[in-house]
Amino acid sequence: MKETSPLPDPFSNSFHPNPLAQPASLATDRDMSIDELRAEATRAVDWVADYLSGLESQPVIPPVAPGDIRRSLPESAPEHGESMDAIFSDLESRIAPGLTHWNHPSFFAYFNASSSGPGMIAELIAAAINSNSMIWQTCPAAHELEELTAGWLRRWMGLPESFRGLFTDGGSASTFHALAAARQTVTEVDWRQNGGRGAPELRLYVTEHTHSSIHKAMLALGLGLSCIREVACDDRMRMSADGLREAIEADLQAGRRPFAVVATLGTTSVTSVDPVADIAEVCRQFELWLHVDAAHGGAAALLPEQRHLFDGWQHADSIVVNPHKWLMVPLDLSVLYTRHPDVLRDAFSLVPAYLQTTTDLPASEPDSLGNMMDYGLSLGRRFRALKLWFVLRYFGRQGLIDRLRGHLESARWLAQQIDLHPKIERVAPVPLSTVCFRAVPPRDSEDGNAFNRRWLQAIHRTGEIYLSPTELGGRFVLRFVVSGLRTERRHVEAAWSLLCHRLDELYSD
Ligand SMILES: Cc1ncc(COP(=O)(O)O)c(C=O)c1O
Repeated sequence: MKETSPLPDPFSNSFHPNPLAQPASLATDRDMSIDELRAEATRAVDWVADYLSGLESQPVIPPVAPGDIRRSLPESAPEHGESMDAIFSDLESRIAPGLTHWNHPSFFAYFNASSSGPGMIAELIAAAINSNSMIWQTCPAAHELEELTAGWLRRWMGLPESFRGLFTDGGSASTFHALAAARQTVTEVDWRQNGGRGAPELRLYVTEHTHSSIHKAMLALGLGLSCIREVACDDRMRMSADGLREAIEADLQAGRRPFAVVATLGTTSVTSVDPVADIAEVCRQFELWLHVDAAHGGAAALLPEQRHLFDGWQHADSIVVNPHKWLMVPLDLSVLYTRHPDVLRDAFSLVPAYLQTTTDLPASEPDSLGNMMDYGLSLGRRFRALKLWFVLRYFGRQGLIDRLRGHLESARWLAQQIDLHPKIERVAPVPLSTVCFRAVPPRDSEDGNAFNRRWLQAIHRTGEIYLSPTELGGRFVLRFVVSGLRTERRHVEAAWSLLCHRLDELYSD
């Protein structure tokens, strides 16, 4: 049986050392008073300002063991309300020590998601407004700002007006919706009425570098992982359009039913960029739905000098771009663009009597998608557009371009250092701002994967920087992603020096 630590007694005064944590009578019989709200919100903003300004001196990864945070907190919720003093005190002493700092300038792991000041402020306001834009009437401003900001971003990325944008909570959700729409194009089956009953053997085409959210979408849609076919890649880890054509032809000959292709612009491990123009041509030839996963990479389409990587994405049927990854918008916000909102609507629209409205928005506003609840699984929808609106306005197109350009330049600088280093090899091209590499072990006999794992552990033990690993062709590889809003060249230089130091130490062991 799993051992549990003794639970603190929430009713005794001794479990909680903070004397301020007595039942508080500050609240009115409804919410906190407006005066208290003003004072506590000011305290919260001060906390945020101190937190952000002190980040650099903190370890990126907290030096805590699994369960430490949980054990420091009472197991039961309080019977009576507590004071904000007590809550803030615990935030500082019990929660903050367990934070991995995604906004830290030396966070180089995964795809960094940094939040900017304007985004944070908008989140506070959105929480106060607390609207639910399921139908237009339940918040016209949220609805119309979503359509407006999706259009602003679309234009900045050079996509045509035929793409309509809808906000979801993440790339995985956007992809799920896109592939549900793709499935809807298999018209031999009445998916709405019968699910997959009598469906042919479907095929979806990806590569070994495609993100797992596509596989999860197949799980959630009930199509199963066996419908996924991996197409071969070229030596730059990009889907081979010829390989795709051959795979489709072979499946057709075998009586299977190809229905969609996923091309990725910025794959997760190495940010490889599939040749989407060539893939779009194959999709056109075989009448397949083309979904483009640009969850991370899409932001780079803002830069004129990167736009060539996106050639052909305007022919996609759906595209996912996550402003919460590389556009300084706090989690969560993903945009699903599609040229076929009608198909998405066919897949998801279901309007019970209690959601019928008195305003016929589509008829009165021909440009509008109508009620957003008709296009997806969620009925309730947060006011995500507000933070995108704040961020796009605060930085402007040029401000975002400047920041992204800085990341790309720093990544290129790092790639050059690696290429000059005799003991480190770069293992993938760097089309965006992710650099993948591994160290050559000191002795031929040494297991390269084990050595690189030890190297990463030694780097993480310092707490100073955070990288994440991946695997390429069975080889353990380190990923270094430069995409943090607060990351400057000096942070990348310091990280490089730390990497080299730790490697030298391992070499001299
Ligand atoms: C290429 C790609 N697509 C999709 C996703 C999933 O995005 P989310 O985490 O917002 O669900 C990720 C996440 O890193 C990704 O790298």
